Amino acid sequence: MERKLIIAANWKMNKGPAETAEFIESFLPGSEELSERCDIIIAPPFVSLPAAASLLADSVVALSAQNVSDQDEGAFTGEVATCMLNEVGVQYVILGHSERRAIYGESDQFINAKVRKALTADLHPIFCIGETLEERESGKLEDVLRTQMSGGLADLTVEHMSDVVVAYEPVWAIGTGVTATPDQAQEAHAFVRTLLEEQFGAEVAGATRIQYGGSVKAGNSAELMAQVDIDGALVGGASLEAGSFRDLIANAVA
Ligand code: 13P
Repeated sequence: MERKLIIAANWKMNKGPAETAEFIESFLPGSEELSERCDIIIAPPFVSLPAAASLLADSVVALSAQNVSDQDEGAFTGEVATCMLNEVGVQYVILGHSERRAIYGESDQFINAKVRKALTADLHPIFCIGETLEERESGKLEDVLRTQMSGGLADLTVEHMSDVVVAYEPVWAIGTGVTATPDQAQEAHAFVRTLLEEQFGAEVAGATRIQYGGSVKAGNSAELMAQVDIDGALVGGASLEAGSFRDLIANAVA
């Protein structure tokens, strides 16, 4: 099954509207050619989404939010609803990121509510999973991934899954400069694909794109993307500068 690469820039809490505009103006030239072999997504903070949306309107680059509420509207101070993201022109939303899980205490059940809410609003979830170093070293990798996958994707249908991207991000590789080796990443991705097969069947397992995240950069994107079960990347640090993000994608598709 041929799966088109999908590479997303997760800017986390970086870049207001002005810096967002500066990045996009510098990144867009040349992006059309890259997009023939790779779907490209940028995920700025909420306040920068309108500026990004207007600059990306006629481009090949898609727009993602970094979170969304599990509620529709009302008294939820500080939250942003799916219909607001729709109104701005957002197509994807990152959910279940390890920073949301670890720092803000998001549970598998809560993440699942957001995933289901996003799908009802035609937003594509980029659903993140991944183990800590302690979990990996104590032999719990498979248990952790199984729990995150079954909890976070609970009650989804086969049809829903065509809108879902999974991102495997080992927590110990995020922002540390320590990347999983291509073999380590491939092994985890192959396991995630077997979990997809258990949950949704062989067709979904074959079609679902699984991104790798954790210290991906221009220097390692090619060897990571060369692995059979790695279908893209979710990139933090190396996506903050237009040139390095472009090189990372160019090497991945080469
Ligand atoms: P880094 O690429 O900075 O390691 O961040 C990865 C990440 O968390 C993307 O969501």
